[in-house]
Amino acid sequence: KMYLEFFQKNGHKVIANASLVPENDPTALFISAGMHPLVPYLLGQRHPSGRKLVNVQKCLRTSDVDEVGDSNHLSFFEMLGNWSLGDYFKEESITWSYEFLTSKEWLNLDVEKLSFTVFAGDETTPRDTESARIWEGLGIPKDKIFYLPREDNWWGPIGNTGPCGPDTEIFYDTGKEPCGDECKPGCSCGKFNEIWNNVFMEYNKTPSGEYELLEQKNVDTGMGVERTVAVLQGKDNVYETEIYAPLFNHIIEQS
Ligand code: SER
Repeated sequence: KMYLEFFQKNGHKVIANASLVPENDPTALFISAGMHPLVPYLLGQRHPSGRKLVNVQKCLRTSDVDEVGDSNHLSFFEMLGNWSLGDYFKEESITWSYEFLTSKEWLNLDVEKLSFTVFAGDETTPRDTESARIWEGLGIPKDKIFYLPREDNWWGPIGNTGPCGPDTEIFYDTGKEPCGDECKPGCSCGKFNEIWNNVFMEYNKTPSGEYELLEQKNVDTGMGVERTVAVLQGKDNVYETEIYAPLFNHIIEQS
């Protein structure tokens, strides 16, 4: 509710959760990301609610099924998303995320516990120095901003073709001991809980595997409801939050 309110206050229109079964996409069995029902609009079709949207979308994701069961990967989850369909881009997106997370009026998280990753760049697409510069401009020290490769900081497309782009991800330190000297945001040991992913969708991957620039620059952000609740309730995993704990307690009582 706070998330929808924050983005409405900043000019976004709330759109409804789409059916978990895709309506116009024969290539997928389930909606697997908040951006999935919005693909036609990310590619340029006009959305009836405008260019700045916000929603909560139910998702069923199987691509990372091997990670399900660790501290923060679920097969079914809900995703908070704010969207720019050719309207704002990196500056506003990052600044709003920062404000929503750290402002006393909103989530009031301790900024010391946050760290950030940005796309390191490779032979096909450039390094995202702009996002790093924006984080730095908000007062984030350089040693809290990590450049990571495509496996970590590039999102999409769903399937083989479609909108995609570099992303910047926001992590919350759960307080667990680091798993080794190399432990940093992006490490899967559970110390760093990825709570928000801001994707800057300015590319379309074509059937021949090329990344062509889209006519409009879009923003697709995804903030995991269950992960965020874990942070707000001081838990280091999603299963101990009020979303799951009552179910486990009921099973324990019954058995
Ligand atoms: N599409 C991105 C994701 O699912 C951000 O919303 O993580």
